[in-house]
Amino acid sequence: MKLLLVLFTVFALAPILGRSLNPSLNDDVLGLIVFRADIQDPKGKLASWNEDDDTPCGWVGVKCNPRSNAVIELNLDGFSLSGHIGRGLLQLQSLRKLSLSNNNLTGSLSAKIAHIDNLRVLDVSQNSLSGPVPEEFFRQCGSLRVISLANNKFSGKIPESLSSCASLATIDLSLNQFSGPVPAGVWSLNGIRSLDLYGNLLKGEIPKAIEGLNNLRAINLGKNRFSGLLPDGIGSCLLLRFIDLSENSFTGNLPQTMQKLGLCDSLSLQKNLFAGELPEWIGEMKSLETLDLSSNLFSGQVPSSLGNLQALKVLNFSSNRFTGGLPKSLVYCTNLLALDFSKNSMEGDLPAWIFKAGLDAVLISEKKLSGNSLSSSPTGTALQKLEVLDLSGNGFSGEITSAIGDLSSLHVLNLSCNSLVGPVPVTIGELKALVILDMSENGLNGSIPLEIGCAFSLKELRLEKNFLTGKIPTSIENCSSLTTLIVSENRLAGPIPAAVGKLTNLQNVDLSFNNLSGGLPKQLANLPNILSFNISHNNLQGELPSGGFFNTISPSSVSGNPSLCGSAVNKSCPAVLPKPIVLNPNSTSDSTTGALPSKFGHKRIILSISALIAIGAAAFIVIGVIAITVLNLRVRTSTSRPAAAITFSGGDDFSNSPTTDANSGKLVMFSGDPDFSTGAHALLNKDCELGRGGFGAVYRTVLRDGRPVAIKKLTVSSLVKSQQEFEREVKKLGKVRHDNLVEIEGYYWTPSLQLIIYEYVAGGSLYKHLHDGSGGNFLSWNDRFNIILGTAKSLAHLHQMNIIHYNIKSSNVLISSSGEPKVGDFGLARLLPMLDRYVLSSKIQSALGYMAPEFACKTVKITEKCDVYGFGVLVLEVVTGKRPVEYMEDDVVVLCDMVRGALEEGRVEECIDIRLQGSFPAEEAIPVMKLGLICTSQVPSNRPDMGEVVNILELIRCPSEGQEESG
Ligand SMILES: *[C@@H]1O[C@H](CO)[C@@H](O)[C@H](O)[C@H]1NC(C)=O
Ligand SMILES: *[C@@H]1O[C@H](CO)[C@@H](O)[C@H](O)[C@H]1NC(C)=O
Ligand SMILES: *[C@@H]1O[C@H](CO)[C@@H](O)[C@H](O)[C@H]1NC(C)=O
Ligand SMILES: *[C@@H]1O[C@H](CO)[C@@H](O)[C@H](O)[C@H]1NC(C)=O
Repeated sequence: MKLLLVLFTVFALAPILGRSLNPSLNDDVLGLIVFRADIQDPKGKLASWNEDDDTPCGWVGVKCNPRSNAVIELNLDGFSLSGHIGRGLLQLQSLRKLSLSNNNLTGSLSAKIAHIDNLRVLDVSQNSLSGPVPEEFFRQCGSLRVISLANNKFSGKIPESLSSCASLATIDLSLNQFSGPVPAGVWSLNGIRSLDLYGNLLKGEIPKAIEGLNNLRAINLGKNRFSGLLPDGIGSCLLLRFIDLSENSFTGNLPQTMQKLGLCDSLSLQKNLFAGELPEWIGEMKSLETLDLSSNLFSGQVPSSLGNLQALKVLNFSSNRFTGGLPKSLVYCTNLLALDFSKNSMEGDLPAWIFKAGLDAVLISEKKLSGNSLSSSPTGTALQKLEVLDLSGNGFSGEITSAIGDLSSLHVLNLSCNSLVGPVPVTIGELKALVILDMSENGLNGSIPLEIGCAFSLKELRLEKNFLTGKIPTSIENCSSLTTLIVSENRLAGPIPAAVGKLTNLQNVDLSFNNLSGGLPKQLANLPNILSFNISHNNLQGELPSGGFFNTISPSSVSGNPSLCGSAVNKSCPAVLPKPIVLNPNSTSDSTTGALPSKFGHKRIILSISALIAIGAAAFIVIGVIAITVLNLRVRTSTSRPAAAITFSGGDDFSNSPTTDANSGKLVMFSGDPDFSTGAHALLNKDCELGRGGFGAVYRTVLRDGRPVAIKKLTVSSLVKSQQEFEREVKKLGKVRHDNLVEIEGYYWTPSLQLIIYEYVAGGSLYKHLHDGSGGNFLSWNDRFNIILGTAKSLAHLHQMNIIHYNIKSSNVLISSSGEPKVGDFGLARLLPMLDRYVLSSKIQSALGYMAPEFACKTVKITEKCDVYGFGVLVLEVVTGKRPVEYMEDDVVVLCDMVRGALEEGRVEECIDIRLQGSFPAEEAIPVMKLGLICTSQVPSNRPDMGEVVNILELIRCPSEGQEESG
């Protein structure tokens, strides 16, 4: 470091003291060390620069003349250097090339740098250098051949002195903020091969003097403020290969002299004010690979001489005023990759010949017509390399030819905003490389072809504003890259295919203004990247899926679908209401599940088919009896209970039992019952139906020994789990024993029919007793309290065994002949293949008013607290004698709301069943009602658990116990 300090001092005085101060120090080492002292080297790229070295020739980035050992090149491109370019470099008197490109150097450029005698290449591009370039900079640029100041922040005028650098071949001042005119002398530097002034604020005209630049190969004046006409002189620059005048304000037409530019391969005039007809001689510029005339004011017909440009790869005539049709000669441009005629006023049929292979007839007549070198036409194999075809925004009419499928390389096809008619050709499926397809705003009809699914590279599909009909094909799911799907404003019908939910890349979906119907597939909610999803103005129905973006979807995206419900459309869905008040009040059939002893005493029918159980499965509305034969009857015992296991078969030899026969079934009784097993006959007859519930109809039947049982035939057979799972669950339920639970005695299983055999309870259901004047008996307060307590105990027991009832309601509470409550139907939800909220709420929907609010709230887990809720409703029902939901003339009364309101108003006693008036102890009834209300808390965690409920009830009962015994 000390040396550095010394060097600084030394160097500051150098002009006076000269290099002789320390003769042992190499000038180049000195210069480079001083240069390095001015810059930061965060990546340590210059670590090899050791100031103690005698020569810098071994240092990174340094190149010496092998004879003189003088530094001739310094290449520090991309070294991440920052700081200023100091004067140390001036010391390198033999330097020929200085390249500091692509660093983070700042500050201004010292005038002296260019004065290094032998410097030929000066490249400081891609830094953050700024300020004006000093006028003296180019004063002694004797040998400078290449200068690049590109991509910095230089400003001010280009120094006049640049004109004095006669040896310059390459000038790159692009991407700075140079302003004012280009010094006139620059246009006379006839050694120049490349002049790049792109992306500055330069103005003025190109002078006639340009004709002197006869070495010019590339000129880029793009993105400046140049104006005026192109001078004729440009045609004298015969070596020109690259011309970019884009984004200026040039006017007039192309000077005819340009036709001499036979080497020019790229002509870009985009975004200027060029006008007039494009001359035929354009076909003389035979080397053209890129011809971009887009966004000008060119008009008239497109010259057919374009067909001569057989090297052409990019032809962009977009946004001009061209009229007429596309010249047929274009078919000769077989190397075309991009063809853009969008936003003109062209018309006529969409040229089929573009797409088709070998249209000889057309070609021949064309040859004759033009009489030019079209005869050198190649294969005639259409534009099969074409990647971009944009003919949008014209007046093209007619149908889209199916030959479009031949453009097998196409990435982008934009035919939007024309007057095309007819169908979307099915050959679109052959475009395996197609990424963007836009046929919007035409008059297309027919349906979206299934084959769209074969264009599996598609990312953007736009067919909006046509007359398309039919369905959205499910094959769309094959386009797995799709990000944009817009088919709005058509006449599409049918459902939104669930397959759309598989397109996980989708961001923008617009299906609005069609006739789509049906429900919204739930899978849609899983789309992870969606930004907008518009399904407004269709006939979609049902519930908006929840979750994912549907939670935040804007109402305008779903509006105009009268049958859609959900929060976004501000309309609640009947299916998920916690209090399903819109159900048909007459549908009470499920509320009749229970035993009706009087009904079937005389209906007892016993069939004597030897060793068979004939079960007339009175499925739904069957009149009479359907016999289902049990060929393989097994009576088994559950592991917990001792029992006899006896197997039967259709014949005497039971080893032949065809267990796989569709008509065979497996009967398992948990308790050994000799009578039953030695000759069991049972009949399920519609006349013996006890009732129906969410899980099936219940029939009473009598075993051969005369013992009655209740048999539940599960209607959810298609939903029932596999046999093993079914048996496991039923056996588990069968082990549950409690005085207040209906016992499961066994089950019967075939793939198509499942029965559960229950203990028969003779006294009818609580529902009947409470609400059915004829079928029920009057229940005293004491009866009611017993029922409440017994029910609570049974639920507490179930919960202890980790079984959720799921379906507690008064029709599932049976009353035994001794007046004890027996709760039935428990745990059946476990037989469903999935314990899914949807299934639960739709199966148990029937439990009008008993359903806990969390069933409607998808984020809350369903726990045994849903039984507590149902129990709370049942308590209120028992005490008030009113149904959980009562339908009045034009009102719906929800029981717990009513009781809660009455309690708040201090008149809760008025709610108590009128039949009990005067015969109930208020000190019991009111706490019981309060308990019922607590049990119906909206928030599950606020509800007590059933064990606590039992304790509370026993506390309530305690004071008056003993006196009540007689009641
Ligand atoms: C360049 O330098 C500026 C200012 O010192 C700094 O903020 C920036 O991160 C640097 N950039 C790079 C690419 O090193
Ligand atoms: C044609 O030029 C316009 C700008 O003038 C550009 O937006 C468009 O992408 C170009 N077309 C093709 C195919 O490159
Ligand atoms: C197709 O062209 C139209 C009009 O030129 C343009 O608005 C649209 O964005 C283009 N489609 C695609 C997908 O780029
Ligand atoms: C219910 O049944 C009664 C009598 O059977 C009938 O008048 C009424 O219209 C029914 N209500 C509904 C909503 O169907």
